[in-house]
Amino acid sequence: MINKDIARVLISEEELSKIVSRVADEISRDYRDEDKRLVLLCILKGSIVFMGDLMKKLTVPVEIDCMRVSSYGSGTESSGQVNIVLDLIRPDLDSCDVLIVEDIIDSGRTLAYLTKYLLNKGVKSVRTCTLLDKPSRRAVEFTPDYVGVEIPDEFVVGYGLDYAERYRALPYVGILKPEVYSE
Ligand code: PRP
Repeated sequence: MINKDIARVLISEEELSKIVSRVADEISRDYRDEDKRLVLLCILKGSIVFMGDLMKKLTVPVEIDCMRVSSYGSGTESSGQVNIVLDLIRPDLDSCDVLIVEDIIDSGRTLAYLTKYLLNKGVKSVRTCTLLDKPSRRAVEFTPDYVGVEIPDEFVVGYGLDYAERYRALPYVGILKPEVYSE
């Protein structure tokens, strides 16, 4: 049954599974080189669900790690500032081929910042992967290496994405009813 606050399902559970499989195949193909040491970097919290499903579908050895950044306030608009709340701390950064895993790219600021930040920190390589991409919302130029699907500029929740910390556990990506966030 669809949550009462959802206007409509944008991407169903079945569609998400196919999208994640396709992205996992692309990543597995690109990282099968034995010199590469793939470290999936989950950007908490929104990427948790995508990351969990993605890692299970990879056919190459993988390590995982997490960072937490915040760029949004409690509302629907980006504040434009990227803050590192939980840093990546490990002694072997220079041998890590980091693939940043995001649930969504909006302005592009988070991934543009994180890519530079990790390279400055000394990781061997950085690529980026996002489940959802809203290219119409870019404030800075940024092109991810792997994209699940491009979506229109709608307020979406579910499959890890929240509004005021709610709806992350929905198994689909849905468009939130405007009255929920304009109350
Ligand atoms: C979201 C998303 C990205 C960022 C994308 O995180 O997970 O990290 O915003 O926006 P940008 O392209 O405009 O930078 P959010 O700050 O909502 O945190 P959350 O993942 O904990 O929900």
